[in-house]
Formats: sequence, structure tokens, C-alpha cells
Amino acid sequence: MKKVRKAVFPVAGLGTRFLPATKAIPKEMLPVVDKPIVHYAFEEALAAGIEQFIFVTGRNKNAIEDHFDHAYELQHKLSGKEKIKELALTRDWLPSAGSVSFTRQQDSLGLGHAVWCARHLVGDEPFAVILPDDMVLADQPCVKQMVEAYKGGNMAAVMDVPRDKTKSYGILDIAHSDGKMVTAKGLVEKPEPEKAPSTLSIIGRYILEPGIFSVLENQKKGNGGEIQLTDAMSSMIGKVPFYGYRFDGKRYDCGSREGYLEANIAFALDRDDMKKDVHKILKQFVG
Ligand code: UTP
Repeated sequence: MKKVRKAVFPVAGLGTRFLPATKAIPKEMLPVVDKPIVHYAFEEALAAGIEQFIFVTGRNKNAIEDHFDHAYELQHKLSGKEKIKELALTRDWLPSAGSVSFTRQQDSLGLGHAVWCARHLVGDEPFAVILPDDMVLADQPCVKQMVEAYKGGNMAAVMDVPRDKTKSYGILDIAHSDGKMVTAKGLVEKPEPEKAPSTLSIIGRYILEPGIFSVLENQKKGNGGEIQLTDAMSSMIGKVPFYGYRFDGKRYDCGSREGYLEANIAFALDRDDMKKDVHKILKQFVG
């Protein structure tokens, strides 16, 4: 089996739930504590051994590209003032030349379409897909857990959600479970609670077979009039197995305002340099 070397980051969404913040700034550049959301996703991929980082961007997303480049004027000024620590924060983590690629999704036709836009950059090998606005706090990065467990087929990180929330997720129709791995016999995108085949839901982490691209090419619009990745993975079941992977960790939905706020608190509490102060602040609010 080929090694998972490439990761696709679909970042072309409009981020309408964060307007007006996302009028001029991509949602993925909003900070969680002091790092943009997209930076966490990059670090997670790196920790999983990913070598090629492929961003599917859209209009008004140039700031993402700039983030992964030098900022010479700023670096020059920081160097002149001998602000060594700050200088390091602008450049010491930069990916090696040629390991980051950007392609554009000209129209927001859905997540499935965004992934399809990366087909020439991915080629004929299994690849990871990371939705940066789903953040996972875990001892072992989520994608690393998945790469280590991957045994071919299509795979997504999964977690149980309350039944009244199934309408926000892709849901598994479970065939059988084996420890953390769940084999699905079907997938349903955003079902009403009474129609959901289970409460096991897909979060924004996948490892996919390259065969998904030819399926996406012919994929009809689904829920919300968008080309859905879930529909494509679902239609492959029978020919290609689909596995849900029950990851260790806690997921934060930074695509929603409440989830974003929660992530800021959780990630700050996870940091030794902030934990104490944040506890104090929280106490002022909750007594
Ligand atoms: P979301 O459902 O969160 O949509 O997309 P969104 O447009 O980003 O945000 P709202 O709902 O308008 O607030 C899930 C992921 O799929 C990407 C998004 O960038 C996000 O990472 N996506 C979605 C695309 O890249 N292209 C699309 O056409 C749709």
C-alpha cells in the first residue's frame, strides 16, 4: 500500500456564518489564541508525516498563501530590533520550498467539488483531506492516528453526536465495528434525526483513495445544491470499503461561532503559558 504523503486542505468556502469578520479575511485566517486556524491544520498534517500540502482556495483567500511565505519587511524590522523570538514565529516553521501548492475552486460548488479541484496535484495515490475549521485537540494528532490505522479504502474520522444534531453531519449506516474501526454499509448526508441510520458522524478528516476523483467528476449535486464528498464516498461502497475511525481527542467546530469561542478557550487552557490566566478570567464569569 502506498504511503499517505499528500494532504488537501479545502479552504474555498465563503464562511458566511462569520460575517462581517470574513468579508475581507478568510475564515481560515481567524486566530485561535494567536495562530490562524489553517496553521493548526498544517501542523497536524506535518506531524502525520505529510510531505505535500495542497490548498484549494478561492477568491479573497490570498492571505492564506501569504501566510506560508516570508514577510520580508516585517522580518527585516524584527531583525533590526533583535526580536529573535518574534522573528522565529514568522519563519522558523515555514514549509520547504515546493512542498506547498495552491489551486483555485472558481465557484463554491461544494466540498466534493473542492476536493476534485486537487486531482492533478494529488495524482494516483491515497491522500488525506483536512478541513481546517474542524479543530481537534488530542495527545496524538488526529491525522497521525488515522494514517497509522489506514488499511486502504476510504476512511473518515468519526464521533458520536446527539441525535438531534444529525442534520449537521454526514452519518454512517454501520455494518460492523472492530475496536476503533467501523465499517459502513452506507452514508447519509445531513439526515433528519428520525431518518438517521445512527448517530456516528463524520468530522473533517479523511483519507481517500484516488479513485474518488473519477466518481466526483460525475457526481450530481446533493444536499444544499452542492457536490457532496459524502455522496461520492457513499456511492463507492461495495467496490471500495468505507471505514469510520473513532479518533481519540476532542473536536471543535470552528465553522460555528460557539465552536470557535469554545476552541479558543480549550486551546488556551491547553497552553502552559496561558492556563493559569485563562482559568482566572473564566472564574470571573462563572463564579
Ligand atoms: P462549510 O460547510 O463550513 O462552508 O465548508 P463555508 O462556506 O466554509 O462556511 P459557511 O457555512 O458559509 O459559514 C466546510 C469546508 O469545505 C470547504 C470550506 O472551506 C470548509 O473548509 N468548502 C466548502 C470549499 O472549499 N468549497 C466549497 O464550495 C464549499
